[in-house]
Amino acid sequence: MSAGLPHATVLLHEAVEALQVKPDGVYVDGTFGRGGHSRLILEQLGKDGRLIALDKDPAAIKAGAAINDPRFALVHGSFASLSETLRKLHVERVDGVLLDLGMSSPQLDDEERGFSFRFDAPLDMRMDSSSGETAAEWLAVVDEKKLWEVIRDYGEERFAKQIARAVVDARKKQPVTTTRQLSEIAAHAVRTRESGKNPATRTFQAIRIYINRELEELAQVLPQCVDRLKAGGRLVIISFHSLEDRMVKQFLRGMAQGDKLPRRLPVRASDLPAGKLRLIGKAVRASEQEVEENPRARSAVMRVAERMESMNG
Ligand SMILES: C[S@@+](CC[C@H](N)C(=O)[O-])C[C@H]1O[C@@H](n2cnc3c(N)ncnc32)[C@H](O)[C@@H]1O
Repeated sequence: MSAGLPHATVLLHEAVEALQVKPDGVYVDGTFGRGGHSRLILEQLGKDGRLIALDKDPAAIKAGAAINDPRFALVHGSFASLSETLRKLHVERVDGVLLDLGMSSPQLDDEERGFSFRFDAPLDMRMDSSSGETAAEWLAVVDEKKLWEVIRDYGEERFAKQIARAVVDARKKQPVTTTRQLSEIAAHAVRTRESGKNPATRTFQAIRIYINRELEELAQVLPQCVDRLKAGGRLVIISFHSLEDRMVKQFLRGMAQGDKLPRRLPVRASDLPAGKLRLIGKAVRASEQEVEENPRARSAVMRVAERMESMNG
């Protein structure tokens, strides 16, 4: 079990600074992990502040039990149910939401979880190991076309078709149930080699994103964050791959533009319907030093927005 393994928090100070923590504010950490960001937020909160953290991984919840603080609540569940969680806690609006997406290092480093081709393990790949279908169960039943689409769309893999065919051929002889089997199938089907990249990387990423409904849940939480933020409240999102970052960027931009009116109308800018969000700064990446210390930080992109007063609610 990975509850004891540490997680190297990415963009720790940058993300918490971007939240602009008010001592008596109410904050949400939607991806607790091992609580790197949560602990720093708690340090900056006063005695009347509050932090609500979520994680869908039971190992994260177990690790979070070590934080014994009356200002802190840790909830097992997906951030896709953010509004529902806040409703149950009788919290209407919050001063900031942080989402540090993707995987924690304990998830990747725990051999038993089946996320990594570095170990031979059962193909599980569920972040929430307490529910849902494992990757092995899905690979046993998925049709070839669907598998091809998932590997192509979520892995951006050129050889998706060949990999899907190879998985379906392989499972006729023997069920595909381990990380080693999958990585060998992918390595065989991928015809070119990218330097420094295991040929199974894109296949593993794709199946992991699919099994955990990562993009669907991100799409669900974004509007809930906007609805639940107080005016002036901050939304801080760290993404680790281009599919997530694209969705975050387009959503924030769309929300910052407001309802578009036809150009050249004889109205002043101040009379135009304002967007619900204001973008704060540009995308932030980890410093060279952080990347050197923690290679996982290399792909991190942080975007920040602030909730505007809105006439439209
Ligand atoms: C990159 S880690 C967060 C690390 C954390 N910021 C820290 O400093 O320790 C991402 C975490 O988010 C969790 N997670 C991913 N998607 C989630 C979702 N839809 N709902 C809740 N938790 C999620 C994962 O289980 C993982 O523990």
